[in-house]
Amino acid sequence: MEFSTRISSLKPSAIREILKVTQDPTVISFAAGNPAPETFPAEEMSIIAADLFANRSATALQYGITEGYAPLRDAITKRMHEKYGVGGDGDITFVTTGGQQVIELAAKVLVNEGDTVLCEAPSFVGALNAFRSYKANLVGIPMDAEGVDVDRLEQALKTEKNVKLVYLIPTFQNPSGCTLSLERRKRVAELAEKYNVYVIEDNPYFDLRYSGEYVPPIKCFDKAGRIIYAGSFSKVLSPGIRIGYTVAPAEVANKMIVAKQVSDVHTNLFFQMLVGDYLMKYDLDQHIAQICDIYKKKCNLMIELAEKNFGDRVSFIRPDGGLFMWFTIPGGRNSFDFCKMASAKKVAAVPGNSFSVDESEISSSFRLNFSLATPEQMQKGMAILGETLTEFLK
Ligand SMILES: Cc1ncc(COP(=O)(O)O)c(C=O)c1O
Repeated sequence: MEFSTRISSLKPSAIREILKVTQDPTVISFAAGNPAPETFPAEEMSIIAADLFANRSATALQYGITEGYAPLRDAITKRMHEKYGVGGDGDITFVTTGGQQVIELAAKVLVNEGDTVLCEAPSFVGALNAFRSYKANLVGIPMDAEGVDVDRLEQALKTEKNVKLVYLIPTFQNPSGCTLSLERRKRVAELAEKYNVYVIEDNPYFDLRYSGEYVPPIKCFDKAGRIIYAGSFSKVLSPGIRIGYTVAPAEVANKMIVAKQVSDVHTNLFFQMLVGDYLMKYDLDQHIAQICDIYKKKCNLMIELAEKNFGDRVSFIRPDGGLFMWFTIPGGRNSFDFCKMASAKKVAAVPGNSFSVDESEISSSFRLNFSLATPEQMQKGMAILGETLTEFLK
């Protein structure tokens, strides 16, 4: 069968070989990005769900409108505006099937084959694949401890052809854990205006801060209507319910709504109502504070174990939040080989090249997730990674 060129350009990833081992329950996985199940508010959700089935099934089980369930949209609009200063008169908020759909819809309405999308190097593979599926010319912009290098970003905006989108994860970035500084955020908003380009601000980890100072979203500085904000309840409530949202300039938002109609008609109405009720009846900020306590402990434990088991043989960035840590083996060694050795010892880590625009590039970095493993698994897994490193560096 001859498949479409769009999909043919999406190659099965080489890291599958490593991630395959995570199917084995005896494997300690630092590979996935899954939130910890103990953070899911299952009890509150079961109370709301029972009420929805008992009293509002005629609405909850019916078709809805593409923009989303109105009380949920209103609650998101209010929360984002009042709490974070995100969204103004020129913006539209609508509900999506996860934050992933915001990225996919933006690519769908803006990117023609061969158009350029600028992204951080490294970046989130789900977004890179969305851009690849529209045959975008992906260009990675280097990062440092303060996030993406905005001078290099401006250079690329000047020199690359047909730049349609800039894709950034400014807060607790996946995979690097870096957070874009305030100055650079303002500069990104200015560059978007100056070069008349849309920027996706993908911010699913924004609420998961464990240390450091609050930095406002780039969208707060969006005077020109160029920032498409992607939010999600995946990391603060549950990823399985697939509830995300965008706050985007009306011109592009309206096109994305038309595109969404074709994709999935609307996001699962039952879970939209469930999240809408949750926001009305419970205190999301209190829940976020509780899960941040859980993750802060896990993050600190991973830092402690990295220091103990890796010593100065690898460098790493201390994240202020999010779910990931990014490690680099000095001397230009290939982290793919290291991760392969670790997977043979039943510990899964993701090699840095899988987050690259060009996966065939050699990366000496690797990503570890700290949200899922229990403290015992983390102790054991990090000790095995330390031993693997000793063998690898021989
Ligand atoms: C940076 C980034 N963006 C978007 C997503 C997609 O999240 P959602 O579950 O909201 O679709 C993820 C999920 O891991 C992510 O890491």
